[in-house]
Amino acid sequence: MAIHIKSAEEIEKMRVAGQLAAEVLGMIEPHVKPGVSTNELNQLCHDYIVNVQQAIPAPLGYGNPPYPKSICTSINHQICHGIPSDKRLKKGDSLNIDVTIIKDGFHGDTSKMFHAGQPTVAGQRLSDITQQCMYLGIRAVRPGATLGDIGQAIQQHAEKNYCSVVREFCGHGIGLRFHEEPQVLHYGKAGEGLVLEPGMIFTIEPMINQGKPDLKILPDQWTAVTKDHKLSAQWEHMVLVTPAGYEVLTLRPEEAGWESRLQ
Ligand code: MF3
Ligand code: CO
Ligand code: CO
Repeated sequence: MAIHIKSAEEIEKMRVAGQLAAEVLGMIEPHVKPGVSTNELNQLCHDYIVNVQQAIPAPLGYGNPPYPKSICTSINHQICHGIPSDKRLKKGDSLNIDVTIIKDGFHGDTSKMFHAGQPTVAGQRLSDITQQCMYLGIRAVRPGATLGDIGQAIQQHAEKNYCSVVREFCGHGIGLRFHEEPQVLHYGKAGEGLVLEPGMIFTIEPMINQGKPDLKILPDQWTAVTKDHKLSAQWEHMVLVTPAGYEVLTLRPEEAGWESRLQ
Protein backbone atom coordinates (compact mmCIF):
# COMPACT_ATOMS: atom_id res chain seq x y z
CA MET A 1 0.00 0.00 0.00
CA ALA A 2 1.38 3.33 -1.05
CA ILE A 3 1.53 6.42 1.12
CA HIS A 4 -1.32 8.76 0.38
CA ILE A 5 -0.28 12.29 -0.61
CA LYS A 6 -3.12 14.59 0.48
CA SER A 7 -4.76 17.04 -1.95
CA ALA A 8 -5.36 20.69 -1.02
CA GLU A 9 -9.00 19.86 -0.18
CA GLU A 10 -8.00 16.93 2.00
CA ILE A 11 -5.37 19.04 3.79
CA GLU A 12 -8.01 21.65 4.61
CA LYS A 13 -10.27 18.95 6.13
CA MET A 14 -7.32 17.58 8.12
CA ARG A 15 -6.66 21.09 9.48
CA VAL A 16 -10.25 21.23 10.71
CA ALA A 17 -10.09 17.74 12.26
CA GLY A 18 -6.72 18.51 13.86
CA GLN A 19 -7.98 21.72 15.42
CA LEU A 20 -11.09 20.00 16.82
CA ALA A 21 -8.92 17.31 18.48
CA ALA A 22 -6.65 20.03 19.91
CA GLU A 23 -9.67 21.90 21.28
CA VAL A 24 -10.81 18.82 23.20
CA LEU A 25 -7.48 18.80 25.07
CA GLY A 26 -7.96 22.49 25.89
CA MET A 27 -11.54 21.87 27.04
CA ILE A 28 -10.56 19.03 29.41
CA GLU A 29 -7.56 20.75 31.03
CA PRO A 30 -9.42 22.47 33.94
CA HIS A 31 -11.17 19.18 34.80
CA VAL A 32 -7.93 17.24 35.38
CA LYS A 33 -7.65 17.49 39.17
CA PRO A 34 -7.19 15.14 42.11
CA GLY A 35 -10.47 13.29 42.79
CA VAL A 36 -11.82 13.21 39.24
CA SER A 37 -12.25 9.75 37.69
CA THR A 38 -10.99 9.00 34.22
CA ASN A 39 -14.53 7.87 33.35
CA GLU A 40 -15.73 11.39 34.15
CA LEU A 41 -13.01 12.83 31.88
CA ASN A 42 -14.07 10.35 29.17
CA GLN A 43 -17.74 11.41 29.48
CA LEU A 44 -16.88 15.13 29.27
CA CYS A 45 -14.78 14.56 26.13
CA HIS A 46 -17.35 12.26 24.56
CA ASP A 47 -20.20 14.74 25.08
CA TYR A 48 -18.11 17.68 23.81
CA ILE A 49 -17.00 15.80 20.67
CA VAL A 50 -20.49 14.51 19.85
CA ASN A 51 -22.72 17.43 20.93
CA VAL A 52 -20.58 20.55 20.55
CA GLN A 53 -18.21 19.55 17.74
CA GLN A 54 -20.69 17.24 16.00
CA ALA A 55 -17.82 14.88 15.40
CA ILE A 56 -17.14 11.21 16.17
CA PRO A 57 -14.77 9.90 18.87
CA ALA A 58 -12.59 7.54 16.80
CA PRO A 59 -11.42 5.20 19.61
CA LEU A 60 -14.94 4.06 20.56
CA GLY A 61 -15.36 0.57 19.06
CA TYR A 62 -12.00 0.74 17.26
CA GLY A 63 -9.87 -2.36 16.79
CA ASN A 64 -10.15 -5.89 18.15
CA PRO A 65 -11.28 -6.30 20.86
CA PRO A 66 -13.27 -3.11 20.24
CA TYR A 67 -11.86 -0.26 22.37
CA PRO A 68 -14.63 0.50 24.91
CA LYS A 69 -14.20 4.26 25.51
CA SER A 70 -13.95 7.57 23.60
CA ILE A 71 -10.47 8.68 24.76
CA CYS A 72 -7.33 7.01 26.13
CA THR A 73 -6.14 7.94 29.65
CA SER A 74 -2.74 6.50 30.56
CA ILE A 75 -1.68 7.17 34.16
CA ASN A 76 1.88 7.09 35.60
CA HIS A 77 3.46 3.74 34.55
CA GLN A 78 0.83 3.18 31.83
CA ILE A 79 2.46 3.82 28.45
CA CYS A 80 -0.59 4.18 26.18
CA HIS A 81 -4.15 2.99 25.48
CA GLY A 82 -5.15 3.18 29.15
CA ILE A 83 -8.92 2.65 29.42
CA PRO A 84 -10.92 5.23 31.42
CA SER A 85 -12.42 3.76 34.61
CA ASP A 86 -14.01 4.78 37.92
CA LYS A 87 -10.55 5.07 39.47
CA ARG A 88 -9.92 8.62 40.71
CA LEU A 89 -6.79 10.66 40.11
CA LYS A 90 -4.55 11.23 43.10
CA LYS A 91 -2.45 14.34 43.77
CA GLY A 92 0.76 14.11 41.75
CA ASP A 93 -0.52 11.54 39.23
CA SER A 94 0.69 12.27 35.71
CA LEU A 95 -1.41 11.14 32.79
CA ASN A 96 -1.64 11.28 29.04
CA ILE A 97 -5.00 12.03 27.46
CA ASP A 98 -5.14 10.96 23.82
CA VAL A 99 -7.99 12.32 21.70
CA THR A 100 -8.89 11.25 18.18
CA ILE A 101 -11.95 12.68 16.44
CA ILE A 102 -13.47 12.14 13.00
CA LYS A 103 -14.99 15.15 11.21
CA ASP A 104 -16.23 15.02 7.65
CA GLY A 105 -14.55 11.60 7.34
CA PHE A 106 -11.09 12.82 8.37
CA HIS A 107 -9.20 12.01 11.58
CA GLY A 108 -7.58 14.45 14.01
CA ASP A 109 -5.26 12.75 16.56
CA THR A 110 -3.32 14.44 19.38
CA SER A 111 -2.33 13.88 23.00
CA LYS A 112 -0.58 15.63 25.85
CA MET A 113 0.50 15.10 29.44
CA PHE A 114 -1.46 16.45 32.40
CA HIS A 115 -0.78 16.38 36.14
CA ALA A 116 -3.37 16.11 38.91
CA GLY A 117 -2.48 19.01 41.16
CA GLN A 118 1.20 19.63 41.83
CA PRO A 119 3.33 17.34 39.61
CA THR A 120 6.09 15.20 41.12
CA VAL A 121 9.64 16.22 40.18
CA ALA A 122 10.12 12.96 38.26
CA GLY A 123 6.74 13.28 36.51
CA GLN A 124 7.41 16.85 35.40
CA ARG A 125 10.93 16.00 34.22
CA LEU A 126 9.84 13.00 32.14
CA SER A 127 6.92 14.92 30.65
CA ASP A 128 9.23 17.81 29.67
CA ILE A 129 11.83 15.52 28.09
CA THR A 130 9.11 13.69 26.14
CA GLN A 131 7.60 16.94 24.87
CA GLN A 132 11.05 18.08 23.76
CA CYS A 133 11.51 14.72 21.99
CA MET A 134 8.26 15.30 20.07
CA TYR A 135 9.23 18.86 19.12
CA LEU A 136 12.71 17.79 18.02
CA GLY A 137 11.10 15.10 15.86
CA ILE A 138 8.73 17.66 14.32
CA ARG A 139 11.60 20.05 13.62
CA ALA A 140 13.31 17.34 11.53
CA VAL A 141 10.33 17.25 9.11
CA ARG A 142 10.89 18.75 5.64
CA PRO A 143 10.78 17.50 2.04
CA GLY A 144 13.88 15.38 1.39
CA ALA A 145 14.38 14.47 5.06
CA THR A 146 13.77 10.84 6.02
CA LEU A 147 11.77 9.10 8.73
CA GLY A 148 15.13 8.06 10.20
CA ASP A 149 15.98 11.75 10.76
CA ILE A 150 12.86 12.05 12.94
CA GLY A 151 13.59 8.82 14.82
CA GLN A 152 17.20 9.74 15.50
CA ALA A 153 16.32 13.21 16.82
CA ILE A 154 13.86 11.68 19.28
CA GLN A 155 16.05 8.77 20.38
CA GLN A 156 19.14 10.95 20.89
CA HIS A 157 17.34 13.38 23.16
CA ALA A 158 15.68 10.61 25.21
CA GLU A 159 18.89 8.64 25.72
CA LYS A 160 21.01 11.73 26.42
CA ASN A 161 18.65 12.24 29.37
CA TYR A 162 18.95 8.59 30.52
CA CYS A 163 15.43 7.75 29.36
CA SER A 164 14.35 5.05 26.89
CA VAL A 165 12.17 4.94 23.76
CA VAL A 166 9.24 2.47 23.59
CA ARG A 167 9.67 0.36 20.44
CA GLU A 168 6.33 -1.45 20.14
CA PHE A 169 4.21 1.59 19.22
CA CYS A 170 4.92 4.27 16.65
CA GLY A 171 3.50 7.30 14.90
CA HIS A 172 1.41 6.72 11.77
CA GLY A 173 0.04 8.16 8.61
CA ILE A 174 -3.51 9.43 9.12
CA GLY A 175 -6.39 10.74 7.02
CA LEU A 176 -9.59 8.97 6.06
CA ARG A 177 -8.22 6.07 8.11
CA PHE A 178 -7.05 6.26 11.75
CA HIS A 179 -3.80 4.37 11.10
CA GLU A 180 -2.31 4.57 7.61
CA GLU A 181 1.16 4.08 6.23
CA PRO A 182 3.88 5.02 6.96
CA GLN A 183 4.90 3.80 10.42
CA VAL A 184 6.84 6.60 12.10
CA LEU A 185 9.39 5.02 14.45
CA HIS A 186 10.59 7.09 17.41
CA TYR A 187 14.12 5.73 17.09
CA GLY A 188 16.44 5.22 14.12
CA LYS A 189 19.32 6.55 12.11
CA ALA A 190 19.50 9.81 10.17
CA GLY A 191 19.26 9.34 6.40
CA GLU A 192 17.50 5.97 6.65
CA GLY A 193 13.93 5.11 5.72
CA LEU A 194 11.22 6.82 3.70
CA VAL A 195 11.98 10.19 2.09
CA LEU A 196 9.38 12.82 3.06
CA GLU A 197 7.31 14.64 0.43
CA PRO A 198 4.93 17.62 0.63
CA GLY A 199 1.35 16.49 1.28
CA MET A 200 2.23 13.61 3.62
CA ILE A 201 0.40 13.74 6.97
CA PHE A 202 1.49 11.62 9.92
CA THR A 203 1.65 11.69 13.69
CA ILE A 204 4.76 11.95 15.85
CA GLU A 205 3.90 10.52 19.27
CA PRO A 206 6.93 9.37 21.25
CA MET A 207 6.40 7.23 24.35
CA ILE A 208 9.41 7.72 26.62
CA ASN A 209 10.16 5.68 29.75
CA GLN A 210 12.01 6.73 32.89
CA GLY A 211 13.43 3.21 33.16
CA LYS A 212 13.73 0.36 30.67
CA PRO A 213 11.80 0.39 27.37
CA ASP A 214 10.10 -2.99 27.96
CA LEU A 215 6.34 -3.17 28.20
CA LYS A 216 3.53 -5.59 28.87
CA ILE A 217 -0.11 -5.52 27.84
CA LEU A 218 -2.71 -5.91 30.62
CA PRO A 219 -5.46 -8.59 30.41
CA ASP A 220 -7.87 -5.91 29.07
CA GLN A 221 -5.79 -6.37 25.86
CA TRP A 222 -5.29 -2.61 25.44
CA THR A 223 -3.44 -0.99 28.33
CA ALA A 224 0.35 -1.01 27.81
CA VAL A 225 2.41 -0.60 31.01
CA THR A 226 6.13 -0.48 31.74
CA LYS A 227 7.51 -3.84 32.86
CA ASP A 228 9.60 -2.17 35.57
CA HIS A 229 6.59 -0.05 36.71
CA LYS A 230 8.60 3.15 36.29
CA LEU A 231 6.96 6.24 34.77
CA SER A 232 6.16 6.65 31.08
CA ALA A 233 5.10 9.80 29.20
CA GLN A 234 3.73 10.59 25.73
CA TRP A 235 2.97 13.67 23.62
CA GLU A 236 1.41 13.53 20.14
CA HIS A 237 0.94 15.93 17.25
CA MET A 238 -0.29 15.48 13.69
CA VAL A 239 2.14 16.98 11.17
CA LEU A 240 1.81 17.94 7.48
CA VAL A 241 4.93 17.99 5.29
CA THR A 242 4.89 21.36 3.47
CA PRO A 243 7.16 22.65 0.68
CA ALA A 244 8.93 24.81 3.33
CA GLY A 245 9.09 22.17 6.09
CA TYR A 246 6.13 21.29 8.29
CA GLU A 247 2.80 22.46 9.64
CA VAL A 248 1.56 21.17 13.00
CA LEU A 249 -2.15 20.51 12.45
CA THR A 250 -2.99 19.98 16.13
CA LEU A 251 -1.18 22.97 17.66
CA ARG A 252 -2.86 24.56 20.73
CA PRO A 253 -2.79 28.31 21.55
CA GLU A 254 -0.37 27.84 24.49
CA GLU A 255 2.20 26.30 22.11
CA ALA A 256 2.57 29.37 19.88
CA GLY A 257 6.28 30.11 19.46
CA TRP A 258 7.42 26.62 20.57
CA GLU A 259 10.26 26.61 18.02
CA SER A 260 11.98 29.59 19.63
CA ARG A 261 11.80 27.99 23.10
CA LEU A 262 13.47 24.75 21.91
CA GLN A 263 17.24 24.85 22.32
N1 MF3 B 1 -4.86 7.62 19.52
C1 MF3 B 1 -3.98 6.48 19.49
C2 MF3 B 1 -2.86 6.84 18.51
O1 MF3 B 1 -2.29 7.86 18.69
C3 MF3 B 1 -4.64 5.22 19.12
C4 MF3 B 1 -5.65 4.78 20.09
S1 MF3 B 1 -6.40 3.36 19.53
C5 MF3 B 1 -7.63 3.15 20.63
O2 MF3 B 1 -2.59 6.19 17.55
F1 MF3 B 1 -8.43 2.27 20.17
F2 MF3 B 1 -7.07 2.81 21.81
F3 MF3 B 1 -8.23 4.27 20.81
CO1 CO C 1 -1.74 8.54 16.81
CO1 CO D 1 -3.42 9.41 19.54
